Amino acid sequence: MRADTAAPRRRTVIALALVVAGALGSGLAISAGYAAPEPTSADLTSAEAAAHAPIAFPQGYTRWTHIKSGLIPAGHPAFASYGGLHHIYANELALAGYRDGRFADGAMLAYDLFETRVTPDGSIDQGPRRHVDVMVKDARRYAATGGWGYAEFAAGADADRLNSGQRAGCAACHEHRKAQGYVFSELQG
Ligand code: HEC
Repeated sequence: MRADTAAPRRRTVIALALVVAGALGSGLAISAGYAAPEPTSADLTSAEAAAHAPIAFPQGYTRWTHIKSGLIPAGHPAFASYGGLHHIYANELALAGYRDGRFADGAMLAYDLFETRVTPDGSIDQGPRRHVDVMVKDARRYAATGGWGYAEFAAGADADRLNSGQRAGCAACHEHRKAQGYVFSELQG
């Protein structure tokens, strides 16, 4: 009696398994078709591939909270890359991080850099934008760089122009501020 009832059930299980395997197979074929964001990602683990997925341009960041501004003048060692007037903005999650030193996933920071212009009366104005540097917190995705992803957008561009070596350079310097959550700027009184 037992054998009679067990047999059809087993056939059903096998048939279901085949359907699931077929669905998975076509799913894999579809995702392989859209494959990886960068050609080299075939060699990466999925975590590494995710860490290299492009960071989107943070639309509307100039309406986030302004943390501070700063001027890097001619003659400063960082002038070639960062000379000019910059403004730092934090989204709401990042603002909370400045207060307690812990930046939650979803925190975003923008460093907006402009040339300067001397006006006829001798005052200094903000000139054209140079680039926007961005940090995005995702502890798991960017575990290798302290939980922060780094990106840089040329003026007017909406695609990150950094390569992996340059991103590592960002992270290496920000590492000096590990105790402050890898963030240099501080809330101004
Ligand atoms: C040599 C060190 C150094 C390197 C390299 C560097 N940064 Fe920074 N970064 C700083 C400093 C210092 C500040 C704070 C500037 C201020 O307080 O006005 C800063 C500020 C920032 C901020 C605002 C948040 C904060 O930490 O205050 C962002 C966003 C940022 N950098 C992104 C980047 C990106 C993206 C790169 C790589 C393209 C990069 N940084 C490379 C030193 C560095």
